[in-house]
Amino acid sequence: MTTLTSSIAIEKTKHSRINEVDFNNLEFGKHIADHMLVAEYDKGRWGAPAVMPFGEMRMTPAILSLHYGQAVFEGMKAFRMKNGDINIFRPHKHLSRFNKSLERMCMPTISEEMWLSSLQAIIETDQQWVPDGEGSSLYIRPLVFASESRLGVKVSDQYKFVIMTCPVGPYQAKPYRLKVESHFVRTAEGGTGFAKCAGNYGGAFYPTQIAREEGFDQVLWTDSKEHKYIDEVGMMNVMFVLNGNLVTPQLNTAILDGVTRDSILTLAKEIPTFKVEERRVTVEEIEQGFAKGTLTEAFGAGTAAVVAPIAVININGKDLQIPTAGPTSFQQQVKKKLHNLRMGLEPDPYGWNFIVKI
Ligand code: COI
Repeated sequence: MTTLTSSIAIEKTKHSRINEVDFNNLEFGKHIADHMLVAEYDKGRWGAPAVMPFGEMRMTPAILSLHYGQAVFEGMKAFRMKNGDINIFRPHKHLSRFNKSLERMCMPTISEEMWLSSLQAIIETDQQWVPDGEGSSLYIRPLVFASESRLGVKVSDQYKFVIMTCPVGPYQAKPYRLKVESHFVRTAEGGTGFAKCAGNYGGAFYPTQIAREEGFDQVLWTDSKEHKYIDEVGMMNVMFVLNGNLVTPQLNTAILDGVTRDSILTLAKEIPTFKVEERRVTVEEIEQGFAKGTLTEAFGAGTAAVVAPIAVININGKDLQIPTAGPTSFQQQVKKKLHNLRMGLEPDPYGWNFIVKI
């Protein structure tokens, strides 16, 4: 059956897969919800988005994104609030980052109207897929990729905008073991590090695979010139409690402007015992802080990872064992604040919650 919701055509699946999902045991990205939203860009404009059953798309192997890398995505979440409402967290901030990424890759941007109505339509259609278990949510993956079929090296004239979703639990159950990278580079200043483009992730696989073989979960990336300053983890931003202050690398063109990072820095102002320092952070001061006992916390911040404790930071082959974060730690306090705000257990003075109309 095809219906129309605020000018978006919706074709519902006849074969829901929701009964295949064990909502008590959600593996990140495994079960993609029943529907996807698709819009096509051609002749200088976006066409009307439509919701349809999730599935294959007909394309040739000559589409430009596969060859020259014009592919940009976002990662955001919808939460089932305590009163049963569905809350999409900070869609405006995600759109602003999405459009910055798209501009960097010479791709067409998305208007606020198209973004919000698309999100409304896909989440409303798959509302039963929004889990209500502790720590779970519906991960939302918007994507734009070049779809023009041609081999010449050029900016594509055609694109597809797709939104897919999947129910998720915690990204990784265990605290992270990170290796500080002193050889490979994720990106350089002036490159695409701040953009959420596919190539940033593809290029990180090889060094990450080496780190995994050495017993680590992820790489902690450093600056491309000297490997002296800490950038981010690639999957998430990084934060420390050093000398009693919350310290995080300041944004530059090599670091993703994380929405969770920004939310934590805002909420930190409500936890007055911890002063915020956004600045360049050296590998050396992390090592020295550990030796002196003034490095008391390290954690990652990301949409998928949320607030993720770091257990080990390996610098030049030496493991620094970071203390376990207790209930009065900054990370536990801020995680609770973020959770309470998103679930509607505390007020939302920042206007971050976007309630889906059902
Ligand atoms: C996110 O946190 O949304 C990410 O993009 C990390 C990863 C799942 C790609």
